[in-house]
Amino acid sequence: MRIDIITCLPELFEGPMNQSIVKRAVQKGHVDIQIHDLRIYSTNKHKTIDDYAYGGGAGMVMMIEPIDLCISELTSQREYDEIIYLSPDGETLNQGICNQLSLTKNLILLCGHYKGVDERVRQHLITREISIGDYVLSGGELAAMVLADALIRLVPGVLNDESSALTDSFQDGLLAPPVYTRPATYKGWDVPAVLQSGHEGKINEWRHEQSVKRTQDRRPDLLS
Ligand code: ADE
Repeated sequence: MRIDIITCLPELFEGPMNQSIVKRAVQKGHVDIQIHDLRIYSTNKHKTIDDYAYGGGAGMVMMIEPIDLCISELTSQREYDEIIYLSPDGETLNQGICNQLSLTKNLILLCGHYKGVDERVRQHLITREISIGDYVLSGGELAAMVLADALIRLVPGVLNDESSALTDSFQDGLLAPPVYTRPATYKGWDVPAVLQSGHEGKINEWRHEQSVKRTQDRRPDLLS
């Protein structure tokens, strides 16, 4: 899978995209992440990528031309499954969307800033808009990283069996059951006996019951 990220803050991606599972996924060749600095596509001498809003009002708006030039360069090289704009008014991200996008081959993620992008970008250049929740971030970069992280761990081969994504919360519409590790007793707090029984059938049954209970208690909306 290839993910092209268009941003005016490329340095932000250096840490999170170079650690842990994402780093291993890149090293093993499961995913290729390319960060594109939008300023390089600015056509004015000050290398600006934003301008005042038509009609007035506070806040700058990201200009269409640098975004168009960057997207055009990318789409001239390969076909993209989706060109996604991260925005608080997009469809809210969930595990279903992540599953679907993890099966695609090429994605562009466009990070917004300031008051957002010129509306014509949304009308003509992108194919999908995604929000990571009902709150406003100072830019789309963190949202793009959240989306990339959630997708990459689902790409076949990225996780080993032990940490398989199949047992994650939301993957079967339920929250994940509680987990424990050694010691079996700590300050008198015990690990449930069934988990220590070695009886696989009983353990699976317990885990399912706990998943249902946890979902009923914490996220009853997922069951309806
Ligand atoms: N940009 C700013 N806020 C955002 C959000 N909640 N989701 C996606 N992109 C954003």
